[in-house]
Amino acid sequence: MRSGWLGKSTSSPEETMQLGQKFSSYIEEGDVYALNGNLGTGKTTFIKGVLMGLNYSNIVTSPTFTLVNEYNSKFSIIHIDCYREASLDRWIKLGINDYMNEKNIVFIEWADKIDSLLPSDTINLEFVYKNQLCRKIFIK
Ligand SMILES: Nc1ncnc2c1ncn2[C@@H]1O[C@H](COP(=O)(O)OP(=O)(O)OP(=O)(O)O)[C@@H](O)[C@H]1O
Ligand SMILES: [Mg+2]
Repeated sequence: MRSGWLGKSTSSPEETMQLGQKFSSYIEEGDVYALNGNLGTGKTTFIKGVLMGLNYSNIVTSPTFTLVNEYNSKFSIIHIDCYREASLDRWIKLGINDYMNEKNIVFIEWADKIDSLLPSDTINLEFVYKNQLCRKIFIK
């Protein structure tokens, strides 16, 4: 990841998307991002913004049930959600180690469930619920 990105508090889903859009100009191939934060704190919304920033114009959905979504945009984006699957064995069988390579950029929601599978240089993005509309989003 390029340096200089500053997180912030957002006051609407649209603002979180805009923040994701700006974030997309800092990401680099090979990056792995762990998105940590409670239900409904804006992790998926943020990634929608990232893809918007990469000029991806198709629909972006939450991988809550699919577990892994892949997007061929300016970069190859892998969007993973560990909320419903915490079994490390299952993730290894799904090929999580292969997804994390120098050609992809990987975003993992609820990554704390698979902590031991994450590379040591994983970048931690924290999402904190402030109130109904306000979220604090920053690198930990
Ligand atoms: N500032 C904000 N940023 C993002 N979402 C917000 C904000 N304010 C309110 N919301 C609402 O919060 C919800 C965020 O949903 P989203 O799916 O992005 O969260 P999530 O962190 O991915 O949740 P989950 O852990 O269930 O996957 C949406 O309903 C959105 O409209
Ligand atoms: Mg989500």
